[in-house]
Amino acid sequence: MLKEHLDYVADAARLESFRAAIARTVPPGSTVVDLGCGSGVLGLLCLQAGAARVYAIDETDMIEVARETLARAGFADRSTCIRGRSTQLELPERVDLAICDHVGYFGFDYGVIGLLADARRRFLKPGGRLIPQQIRLELAAVGSEKCTELVDNWGAERVPPEFHWLRECSVNTKHPVELGKDDVLTSPAPLAEIDLRADNPEFVSFSAGLQATRDAVMHGLAGWFDCQLSDGVHMTNSPLADRPIHRPQAFLPIAEAVTLHKGDRIHATVIARPADALLAWNVRLPEAGKRFSHSTWHGLPMTPEQLVHANPDRVAKLGREGRARLAVLGYCDGKRSAREIEEAVLREHPQLFPDRAEISRFVARVLGRDAA
Ligand SMILES: C[S@@+](CC[C@H](N)C(=O)[O-])C[C@H]1O[C@@H](n2cnc3c(N)ncnc32)[C@H](O)[C@@H]1O
Repeated sequence: MLKEHLDYVADAARLESFRAAIARTVPPGSTVVDLGCGSGVLGLLCLQAGAARVYAIDETDMIEVARETLARAGFADRSTCIRGRSTQLELPERVDLAICDHVGYFGFDYGVIGLLADARRRFLKPGGRLIPQQIRLELAAVGSEKCTELVDNWGAERVPPEFHWLRECSVNTKHPVELGKDDVLTSPAPLAEIDLRADNPEFVSFSAGLQATRDAVMHGLAGWFDCQLSDGVHMTNSPLADRPIHRPQAFLPIAEAVTLHKGDRIHATVIARPADALLAWNVRLPEAGKRFSHSTWHGLPMTPEQLVHANPDRVAKLGREGRARLAVLGYCDGKRSAREIEEAVLREHPQLFPDRAEISRFVARVLGRDAA
């Protein structure tokens, strides 16, 4: 986990962009929520820029790293570190700025739209600001040894043949890949502009027309972002940029390599439901006479339970765990103590738990997660 965050903290281009955006957006005395704070680095930059208070939120153990780092930097009294999922927490006050780096590899694929929509609704003061503000998605056709490997690894000779069927899953997976300029076979096309300050649809479909700039072999599409952190300050992971941040691009494979000739057209559509990390891509190559259709829906074999839940007409019923949670939360009325809740569950729902010790553990777990 620390290794991932070292990559973020050691990325000079990224920090430079955030520092510049913060300088333009955080007047001294501002209050800030740092969503998915990880090491706490973005909150730290805000405090160094004069923020009066930072609420730093992370759902992993990284919250302890953030707490310790901000304290060692002398900001213990101006920072509040909260462990949990931002969408399930309350803040004691509304703030002037919500900041995050939730732009993933392809801009919208790490949940930034939902995260900031929730923060705008529940955490920001009227007129409060966001960093980032806007994301431009770019798409290009790509071909490289790295791309082939990502798709073909499961079919390689060294892999026992019983596993070769998993190539079908790799070809329906979004892969992080570090591309060079030479791997990009078309000019990038702007795919979409997402304004994070406004409401966005839950389901998006973007199309782009691409054209091969040279003869080459295409292995799929690659997407990346140009993210506007504040007016005039951008950061990008484009492999074509002079000073990109250190972050892979999103590679969307096609089932077979296609030889392109200079000028060949590629019609691409990317369809996504960002909240579910669901992504589909269709590629049509008129000159080569090929069509491909892929989706992360096929990227992993589904469990029988997932298949059942995928049926929209199905009427859901709570299982034992769900009924137990409902019982515990039903008694959580802001008046009963944990012991009283245990007693009530034991009295009213004796069939849900084998013994008292399990009730105690379960109540502690549910209250620890869902109650303040
Ligand atoms: C891409 S890292 C960014 C970390 C840090 N903000 C930075 O810029 O270096 C995302 C972090 O957000 C956390 N995270 C993701 N979604 C979250 C959520 N809804 N609430 C709290 N933490 C979240 C993850 O645990 C991870 O530490």
